[in-house]
Amino acid sequence: MTDRLVDSFGRVHDYLRISLTDRCNLRCVYCMPADGMEFQPLDEILTYEEITAVVKTAAQLGVRRLRLTGGEPLVRKDIEALISELSAIPGIEDIALTTNGIYLAQKAEALKKAGVTRVNISLDTMKPDRFAMITRGGDLKRVLDAIDASFAVGFAPIKLNVVLMKGYNDDEIDDFLRLTLDKAIHVRFIEYMPIGHDDDGWRDKYLSLSTVTERAVALGMPPMKTENVFGNGPSEDFRLPNARGSIGLIHPVSEHFCGNCNRLRLTADGNLKPCLYWVDELNIRPLIGDEQAMRDLFFKALKIKPENHEMAQALERQAQSHIPTNRRMSQIGG
Ligand code: GTP
Ligand code: 5AD
Ligand code: SF4
Repeated sequence: MTDRLVDSFGRVHDYLRISLTDRCNLRCVYCMPADGMEFQPLDEILTYEEITAVVKTAAQLGVRRLRLTGGEPLVRKDIEALISELSAIPGIEDIALTTNGIYLAQKAEALKKAGVTRVNISLDTMKPDRFAMITRGGDLKRVLDAIDASFAVGFAPIKLNVVLMKGYNDDEIDDFLRLTLDKAIHVRFIEYMPIGHDDDGWRDKYLSLSTVTERAVALGMPPMKTENVFGNGPSEDFRLPNARGSIGLIHPVSEHFCGNCNRLRLTADGNLKPCLYWVDELNIRPLIGDEQAMRDLFFKALKIKPENHEMAQALERQAQSHIPTNRRMSQIGG
């Protein structure tokens, strides 16, 4: 294929993360402020027809895997209709969902039927009170039910996303590690990233994932590097001795993985976002319908894609070489 999405650093892009909405039914502390969040007017949000058109172009340029994110993707109405359309696009091989799980138990079967292959579920604590505190009001039971429903309908692999935060859930590392022993579940620990804000105590809550490895060793379960669990993202995967599941380490701050970057993002309001961290975006919405113009915009996005983010420098309060995004994580989708 001549028209592959290769950027200036030789990175091949075959993964598109699509944020379906900036709205969410939770308010996780690391993702959205408690209040005062302004949501995009609904007429600024891409329609399913528009998203499908963008993905058709992306697929012609070599995109093979999609991830639907939010906000919370399952708050968008009739998402199954979109997924059916996307799964019929030639070239698309994997349609995954990143969700908080609140609506997942009730929708799992329909999603599976429509073409979702697998789900990543956010779960930062297994304590009900703490879950309500971190998510500002969420009901843990619904997420546990979502995990059961995901096994029941046959999503595979099933991954949990645990954003590690000092003083919030670092005393549960052992519990999350042990969870992988008996269940074929993939627990990914994620370093807390400063996206759209670095002034709300992020530095105090940030913990390097070396903490996780140290805990596993202290428990007498040294993690063994394994082949990566099926996925397209930045996780580095390990298995504890005799475990059925695995652990994944996503460590953007302590050790970035930008050299392997294979992804572009499409925001809910129709911007191509070459990198999670920086401000640069290109609005594709006005070009939808003009195939050549859309293709050109994809290549322009690759051209302006930087080599890496600078979260480690942000941690040290060092100057940044460029302007970080002012979007909150909920407006990007991770
Ligand atoms: P698979 O590997 O395909 O299962 O998915 P994934 O890990 O790419 O997706 P998910 O939405 O579950 O993201 C897990 C974590 O990785 C989230 O905290 C994301 O914000 C983070 N992440 C995903 N892609 C990037 C990236 O390009 N850069 C950085 N810094 N973080 C990312
Ligand atoms: N740092 C790291 N991960 C985050 N996520 C949301 N905000 C942050 C942050 N500031 C995770 C969510 C979800 C995924 C899309 O990104 O937990 O699993
Ligand atoms: Fe790619 Fe930017 Fe993520 Fe680095 S931070 S892996 S360059 S999207």
